[in-house]
Amino acid sequence: MQGIVIHGARPVCGDIRVNGAKNAALPIMAGTLLTEGPNELRRVPRLKDVRILRQILGSLGMAAQRTDEDTLNLEVVDKDQCLAPRELVEQMRASICVLGPLLARRGYAEVPAPGGCVIGDRPIDLHVKGLRALGAEFEEDDETTIRVHAKCLRGTTIDLEGPHGSTVLGTANVMMAATLAEGTTVIKHAACEPEVQDLARYLNACGARIRGIGSDRLTIEGVDRLRGIPYTIIPDRIEAGTFAAAAAVTGGAIRLQNVCPDHMASTLRVLQRMGVCIVNDGGAVRVEGPERLQAIDFETSPYPGIPTDMQPQLTSLLAVSDGTGQVTEGVYPERFTHISELQRLGASIRRQEGGAIVRGEKTLQGGAVTAKDLRAGAGLVLAGLAAHGKTQLRGVHHLDRGYQQLEERLRSLGAELHRSCVPDQPPRTSHPQSDEACA
Ligand code: EPZ
Repeated sequence: MQGIVIHGARPVCGDIRVNGAKNAALPIMAGTLLTEGPNELRRVPRLKDVRILRQILGSLGMAAQRTDEDTLNLEVVDKDQCLAPRELVEQMRASICVLGPLLARRGYAEVPAPGGCVIGDRPIDLHVKGLRALGAEFEEDDETTIRVHAKCLRGTTIDLEGPHGSTVLGTANVMMAATLAEGTTVIKHAACEPEVQDLARYLNACGARIRGIGSDRLTIEGVDRLRGIPYTIIPDRIEAGTFAAAAAVTGGAIRLQNVCPDHMASTLRVLQRMGVCIVNDGGAVRVEGPERLQAIDFETSPYPGIPTDMQPQLTSLLAVSDGTGQVTEGVYPERFTHISELQRLGASIRRQEGGAIVRGEKTLQGGAVTAKDLRAGAGLVLAGLAAHGKTQLRGVHHLDRGYQQLEERLRSLGAELHRSCVPDQPPRTSHPQSDEACA
């Protein structure tokens, strides 16, 4: 089986340029379904999820072409195709964000229902609630496929608050649908993640009228049409946070280029609390890890809180910190598939309701571990970089969904890791998880 072999306990040092944000690129790619004419999207990362969504858009009448390393041109050439193929949608939950644009521009969408996955239940009730409020009608006869139509979408007031805060892609779907609805839509308890803000700015540049960007209350005045444009995606705050964590956990020193420090403020604050030196250096951020990290308690929450997508990475740092830290997962309470794998490397971690207690060890020992989702995989790479000896990581296909050339870029920083065949799966833990796509 293909895996990554890591020889740990080497400091990660040097300059690294951060790519465009996956979680901004995906909804913005879906948003091009709303537009007439060509879109030139810049800083679109070369990731498996981007490739899958590009194929889905192709089946929906979108012409797509890469013109250089990170530019993707997208233009709607056929509005009659409204069926997203099951074999593609099932690979990537984020494909749900084609619903809003298809409804708004074509009045119909047929999308296989997204699967659940290992980081916890992934409902879409808030997406349905918001689109229904705009006038969409969902057919109920087939649980495996979402069939929805709308003669005309009309603006209204919608509350998207869920049990764990708002919904990022739910806000994206409803906001995109509202851009071409009649009248004005107010979204209360909207997600305000930087990626949602970037989508809103892209839509406004196309001619939409969205106000309140960056707040939890969005006002969208419907317009008649949106035009394709050139647009540059924001930097990926989670990729940047992951590289910063790599320097932190190996006692290294890196310089992150092409980052937006404001977008990753909560992550940088946590690292500083753990003893990491962080310096804003013009458009870059310098990160220097201490001899040994200091354990802290942290809780993930919607933006501007600590991102849930950094939780596995930060938990790995706690595993080798001085002291005991408590992790509380405020967005996906079940997002802990990495715990059993960290324990295989010698981590002292105890699960508890909605979180974990981590007692830091001086060192971890390399071993055989398996990534079960994208960010758990990132956390295990960090643990392997910190561990003494050799770590064999399986499940690298998860990493390819969200990190572009991760090994090559870590090697450029002095880490010793490479892709290689690794022995088959070790005996399963007591609660085998499906490894359906879920990023
Ligand atoms: C986006 O997923 C991201 N994915 C996720 O990143 C990220 O973890 C998540 O937002 C939270 O920040 C993309 O942007 C492609 P949610 P999304 O709807 O929009 C509940 C990664 O690693 N909820 O904001 O699907 C839900 O169960 C991925 O890059 C409902 O109750 O997440 C969860 O507890 C993983 N009803 C919470 O809201 C709904 O209808 C947040 O989910 C929708 C969500």
